[in-house]
Amino acid sequence: MFDPDSWYAEEIERTIITEDEIRAKVAELGDRVSADYAGTDEVLLVGVFKGAVMFMADFARALSVPVKMEFMALSSYGSSTTSSGTVRILKDIDSDVAGKHLLVVEDIIDSGLTLSWLLKYLEGLHPASVAVVSMLRKPGVQRVDIPVKYLGFDIPNEFVVGYGLDYAERYRELPFVGVLKPSVYQK
Ligand code: IMP
Ligand code: MG
Repeated sequence: MFDPDSWYAEEIERTIITEDEIRAKVAELGDRVSADYAGTDEVLLVGVFKGAVMFMADFARALSVPVKMEFMALSSYGSSTTSSGTVRILKDIDSDVAGKHLLVVEDIIDSGLTLSWLLKYLEGLHPASVAVVSMLRKPGVQRVDIPVKYLGFDIPNEFVVGYGLDYAERYRELPFVGVLKPSVYQK
């Protein structure tokens, strides 16, 4: 819940998705994915640091099929707010994913450049299947076609923070998704 007495009240302009909406959506996505993967002996969730960590933690616990978790770290944005399109692996998957059912767990799809690159990389490791679940997407701004099988919310094309998403590494811990006041960017 947005707490008007909290430190962030001065910095958040408005909430885009509330904590309750996130919780309900995670449960819904968990049910859908559990149904689709019922009978699969193992699903390997692949999360991308750092933004997907909150969603990964909640989503994994909303599933009723057994999973394993892998995390990758990719370079995308520094403290700027536009996509560079340049992707570098800072931390790779630890295990052999050949023949496994992969589900990439993403925080947000903006330009889609990072994810497009990641999907090609993962396909090259010869998994049994690859699908994408993303909590957020900004529609109409993708520069590449991204097959998102499971989507939480389409949001306006604005820079958002919270629920894993940062601005200059801050605000990831906010339990909701919101927009910063313009004054924050002027600091
Ligand atoms: P894309 O390559 O443009 O699709 O975005 C790559 C990454 O940039 C996402 O996984 C996020 O970590 C980050 N990102 C994109 N849009 C936002 C935003 O509005 N707020 C914070 N991070 C964002
Ligand atoms: Mg990310």
